[in-house]
Amino acid sequence: MQKLADNDAERLEKNLQLAAQEHLTKKIIVLVHVPPFRESCMHEGEISNDDYLPFFASKITGDVLLGAAKANPKIEFLVLCCHTHSSSFYKPLDNLTVKAGSVEYGKSIVQEVIEL
Ligand SMILES: [Fe+2]
Repeated sequence: MQKLADNDAERLEKNLQLAAQEHLTKKIIVLVHVPPFRESCMHEGEISNDDYLPFFASKITGDVLLGAAKANPKIEFLVLCCHTHSSSFYKPLDNLTVKAGSVEYGKSIVQEVIEL
């Protein structure tokens, strides 16, 4: 699983570099299943404890996102995730926001409408 995560993170890093190179890129929206930061991993109103965190977060994805956002301060990065089924909002940098949606099995919910 760690190798799969490493490969996905490497591909994400390359894709973010390509997207950031586009001349008029002002905003990049990243969709991931697993939250990229512990602060995005809520369970029953609390951040998941350290025993379960490796199953609910991808640190390497978070590292890639932090690197891309720091390297491109004029681009706004919005990361949307789920997996934990609990909502969260985390903004580790001025130009990097992570939102996790709340959901129940079998009940699709519109979390919000994004204006572009
Ligand atoms: Fe999941």
